[in-house]
Amino acid sequence: MSAVPNQASPIAAPGASGPLDVERLRADFPILTEVRVHGKPLVYLDNGASSQMPRQVIDRLVRYQTREHANIHRGVHYLSATATAAYEAARATVQRFLNAREDREIVFTSGVTDSINLVAYGYGRAFIGAGDEIIVTHMEHHANIVPWQMLCEEKGAQLRVVPITDAGELVMEEYERLFTPRTKLVAVTHVSNALGTINPVKEMIDIAHRKGVPIMIDGAQAVQHIAVDVQALDCDFYAFTGHKVYGPTGVGVLYAKAALLEKMRPYRGGGDMILSVTFEKTIYNEIPFKFEAGTPPIAAAIGLATALEYVQGVGLDRIAAHEKELLRRATEQLCAIPGVRIVGTAREKAAVLSFNVGDVHPHDVGTLLNDDGVAVRTGHHCAQPVMQRYGIPATARASFAFYNTPAEVEQLAASVRRVQKLFG
Ligand code: ALA
Repeated sequence: MSAVPNQASPIAAPGASGPLDVERLRADFPILTEVRVHGKPLVYLDNGASSQMPRQVIDRLVRYQTREHANIHRGVHYLSATATAAYEAARATVQRFLNAREDREIVFTSGVTDSINLVAYGYGRAFIGAGDEIIVTHMEHHANIVPWQMLCEEKGAQLRVVPITDAGELVMEEYERLFTPRTKLVAVTHVSNALGTINPVKEMIDIAHRKGVPIMIDGAQAVQHIAVDVQALDCDFYAFTGHKVYGPTGVGVLYAKAALLEKMRPYRGGGDMILSVTFEKTIYNEIPFKFEAGTPPIAAAIGLATALEYVQGVGLDRIAAHEKELLRRATEQLCAIPGVRIVGTAREKAAVLSFNVGDVHPHDVGTLLNDDGVAVRTGHHCAQPVMQRYGIPATARASFAFYNTPAEVEQLAASVRRVQKLFG
């Protein structure tokens, strides 16, 4: 495949060191300054749901739409060739971002939900049968539960669930004990969206492989916080989504080892995923195209590549250090407020902070915070089993990005104090 550079304009050279110049970085994100809420500056702390796009990504989308757009893999004309080259260059950028061995191990999907469904269908339906078992954990997002449940229902297979501690850590001894000769797959989140826990996925992958079982990692909440190297991890499947890593909505990624993709059934049939079609027989295209039926999210994939280059330009190590400090401050300040309970106190956490304020319903907390311009997510976070585990209906959740500041943490804490006083 061709590898035309994506012409991103990263704000820092890859490998830049030292603390982040957050004010300078914030200037790349127009929405952070252009939007005011109730006349107050926006304090955007809902990055776990969706992060904002820097102007480099927005500019790349505009350039694509104004100068490069046509359908891909289908035309000999100039624009089709241009769009195809940019789309395939985006695939190569994702390959480098994850350090995948080959670019044909990168499938563009519409998001993590789509990636997991692709594996449940393409791998699960072919290789999991009656009486087989799939291991998931108690902290999965619904997207990493329901597709497996649907598969189990269809095939007569069963889910086995790794329990979690009061702090929100996996009980690793139980994980190991759940394997039986019928275990056919493990599916686990890298970072919990509701608790922030960073799971020991390398150890989990090694254990699964010692048992001869393939493992899928849901990286929806991970790749924006932690550098991921799929070869070093040696995971079989890894999924992430564009809009949580400063890219557009509508595009996601499934990484899978080439040997597995080769064996898998296509998920959707249609154009571009075939080599030839007759009414008697269809011959599928080679990987990854076999899994990309129809017109893919061309613009979004190209925008995603720019977002990944941007993130690498900032530097994931520096991002992690900055976000860790934000989390430390936020945890300390919220814990000091009477009645505030943090849900998820694992030793290893990404910058996600779920909390409740006494008996105040999280939706009321979110509404009052919004009055101050502070955006958090409230609800069960598409992780109802996590809420059941802690006996609560919902939480408020602040999820940080590298563009958040200590002053915004102060604002969050001040707003939570106001809630506490109002209801206290
Ligand atoms: N899964 C996203 C979240 O955790 C939407 O908010």
